[in-house]
Amino acid sequence: MKILIFDHSEALAKQSAALVQACVAQKPNAVLGFATGSTPVETYQQLIKLHQAGQLDFSKVTTFNLDEYYGLPADNDQSYSYFMRVNLFDHINIPAGSTNLLSGIAPDPKAECERYDQLIESHGGIDLQIVGIGKNGHIAFNEPSDEFLMHSHLVNLTENTIQANSRFFESPDQVPTQALTMGSGQIFKARQILMLATGEGKAQAIHDTLHGPVTPRCPSSILQLHPDTVILLDRAAASMLD
Ligand code: F6R
Repeated sequence: MKILIFDHSEALAKQSAALVQACVAQKPNAVLGFATGSTPVETYQQLIKLHQAGQLDFSKVTTFNLDEYYGLPADNDQSYSYFMRVNLFDHINIPAGSTNLLSGIAPDPKAECERYDQLIESHGGIDLQIVGIGKNGHIAFNEPSDEFLMHSHLVNLTENTIQANSRFFESPDQVPTQALTMGSGQIFKARQILMLATGEGKAQAIHDTLHGPVTPRCPSSILQLHPDTVILLDRAAASMLD
């Protein structure tokens, strides 16, 4: 793993956007994996700037998002589908049919997960995947558990995650209790992974990701085994590293 530490989140975002730009420059029809949450928002703003400056063309790109709340339709303003439109897709030249998310209202979640995994495979897999990290070490919604799951699946969110995500809702009881998520194995198959983390609240999880045992109790620790992962941190998130 390559670790990059930045003084400011803006510098971090510029670097992660530059890595995405390099991937698309090398392969105009790249398959990009995106995350939601607070951390990647500045990166998306930088991608929009690069696009507006004529330096990044998304017209042949395909995207897959990591996860979606189960129970929320795509037009709900708390859905990750909505988040991606507002924070990125509405501001770049990606064709509407080239952005993919798990459907939060699929009647058969298992069939929806199979559809999604097959779609990723049919596009030749993910070239570059952006991931954030939960305070408990989750990646996408792969919560600490007894095994690394390969495929997309329905997951019950932990109390920890519901509390953390309640900042986006009026109250914790409005946070969906389930989500559809890519498996950690599916994420691991991406050819390049960019993990972004900012703030002191992520310092322990980043320490455990890099220096703890590889264990599904800390799902992000699987990245220790990945051949091309770049971890981009601000000083606060890096504060527990030696
Ligand atoms: C979101 C996702 C989550 C977040 C993580 C960190 O698509 O997969 O794993 O990356 O919960 O969220 P923030 O960035 O809001 O701290």
